[in-house]
Amino acid sequence: MKSGGDPPRPRPVGTPRPERQVAFRLGLSAESRAAVFLIAKGFRILARRWRSPVGEIDIVARRRKLLVFVEVKARENLDDAAWSVTERQRARIVAAAEAWLGPCFQVTSQVNVVRPGGEAQQAHRDYHLGFQSAEVAASFPAHVHGMSPFLTLQGAVAHSDMPIESGPTKLLPYSQRYAQGYVAWRRADFREYFENNFVQVPLAKGDAIFFNPALFHAAGSNRTSHVQRMANLLQISSAYGRAMEVVNRTRMSETLYPVLRDRLKAGNITEPEALSVIASCAEGYSFPTNLDRDSPAKGLAPESQGQMMLRALREDWEPAEFARALAKHAWRHGAGESTELIDY
Ligand SMILES: [Fe+2]
Repeated sequence: MKSGGDPPRPRPVGTPRPERQVAFRLGLSAESRAAVFLIAKGFRILARRWRSPVGEIDIVARRRKLLVFVEVKARENLDDAAWSVTERQRARIVAAAEAWLGPCFQVTSQVNVVRPGGEAQQAHRDYHLGFQSAEVAASFPAHVHGMSPFLTLQGAVAHSDMPIESGPTKLLPYSQRYAQGYVAWRRADFREYFENNFVQVPLAKGDAIFFNPALFHAAGSNRTSHVQRMANLLQISSAYGRAMEVVNRTRMSETLYPVLRDRLKAGNITEPEALSVIASCAEGYSFPTNLDRDSPAKGLAPESQGQMMLRALREDWEPAEFARALAKHAWRHGAGESTELIDY
């Protein structure tokens, strides 16, 4: 039974609900903070709330040749923002990454938008020798050419439908098996062969594609008049390789730890799910260690940041305790002059 009093006043047509208005103001504030941060980093803001057929982009900014598209996630605290990626997306990426790289992989990504009329790329290889000139690549021994592609899994998650005419990535099947490919991919005859034999598959929004970075590939031309081809380009790095971008894994681990701890305690996630988060956030590599500060008395391989994060969750450390341990771990692995941990 309804209580007495005035009935709720109908909202004018087109007026957002109060909670939506608060969310909008919060989002705007976070966007402003993000814009200030980018300006401080030397970026010029080209557009705010730029509308495209596939959605709105919060900030478009440029620094020299680097054009970035920024999606601002406004939450009450940083921890919640970390959970903006859906479970299904995470599971999909983790399964592909573990199949290629094993555990303790690390993920970096960039959003890529190609407008109608955008030109095609030339066929090429990527990580890691693919970024070198043919002369530099030729100076590496043959076994490095064989090993290079196994240090990275390349991928993309489509954020828009990508019909063939919009130019999804062109791929040359089995070309990853050509041992001399890192030296050969710039040759005109190889590029001609590529253009005569590539395959291309249309993608739907939400589809993901993963491939060996030694596969000859090239983004296609966007021949549509209306499709903004948009994807998250993923570089998933082996724990034993180098990620192209440097991220602050200590800070990420400190931020995510209390969230993981709470979710595990509440039974909202399982330990394997927590492990997948740890794998893509914490440092998975144990070395180098500083023998003065961190003598490997208990064995040859010291505990990695990721292994420590899992141990902390299992032993239910307080977040402050974990933060102190993270700082100490980083100090132990550093190469500074002091043998004393002064302030952490
Ligand atoms: Fe590429």
